[in-house]
Amino acid sequence: MELLERNAPCWCGSGKKYKKCHEAFDEKLKMYENKGVLIPSHDIIKTPAQIEKIKESAKINIAVLDYVAEHIQAGITTQEIDDWVYKITTEAGAIPAPLDYEGYPKSVCTSINDQVCHGIPSEEIVLKEGDIINVDVSTILDGYFSDSSRMFCIGNVGPEKQRLVDVTKECVEKGLAQVKPWGFLGDMSQAVYDHAHANGYSVVREIGGHGVGLEFHEDPWVGYIGKAGTGMLLAPGMIFTIEPMINMGSHEIFVDDSDGWTVYTEDGKPSAQWEIMVLVTEDGYEVLAY
Ligand code: MF3
Ligand code: CO
Repeated sequence: MELLERNAPCWCGSGKKYKKCHEAFDEKLKMYENKGVLIPSHDIIKTPAQIEKIKESAKINIAVLDYVAEHIQAGITTQEIDDWVYKITTEAGAIPAPLDYEGYPKSVCTSINDQVCHGIPSEEIVLKEGDIINVDVSTILDGYFSDSSRMFCIGNVGPEKQRLVDVTKECVEKGLAQVKPWGFLGDMSQAVYDHAHANGYSVVREIGGHGVGLEFHEDPWVGYIGKAGTGMLLAPGMIFTIEPMINMGSHEIFVDDSDGWTVYTEDGKPSAQWEIMVLVTEDGYEVLAY
């Protein structure tokens, strides 16, 4: 990483001189880089103006999930969930990010029981009592992206599935508690992993979270296998998702050949996922979407 000339305009676009803006920040990054630490590049550090826009997008994402939470029940189809998401998002002046994303055909992902993620809504899929379902919502507002997902239990799901859903949420909370500026992404990863394993569950390896905000998926890739004190350095202005997929049985997964999207557990046992979108602040973190 190269430092700028001190009187040059800052790279962040604030219009301020570098020495009055991100110079000290860059010096700190450079100090870590010299120690061999993986540092975030400038293009994933959001400015206050960008953060405001991303928060507006995230508000819509939250509102969509709140609507789903109020209306989801046994007897509805996952296509109905897709219809709600499309309607609420577009009425708010935004676009569902999944729609046409790399050929994805719908506005939301709905993943039930042994579906790990990227389940495609369908008129043929009817929710029934005992199902657990992840509804993963992503929004584009004026070019700014947000992304979060929640689990929903349809009626009484039984103690085993309920515990999986609850522990998975705890995994996200334990990971979140580790997020702080000048900490490491691996601090979060290990907290998630340790809590899942302490409860007898496994963590999906191949699919993880991601930077988000100016694009749907930005650096860093956010896995849950990393060790504390390793991985990318966290700096104020970074925004990323924490979205572990926790399996009741083995961590192994496969993608359905017939639709090219839906990911299943190899052993057919249930999987759960919660996703939050978090901003690294000067003194800790702020949850932008949940
Ligand atoms: N929302 C998912 C994520 O958390 C991405 C889904 S991509 C889609 O990263 F095309 F399947 F929608
Ligand atoms: Co995501």
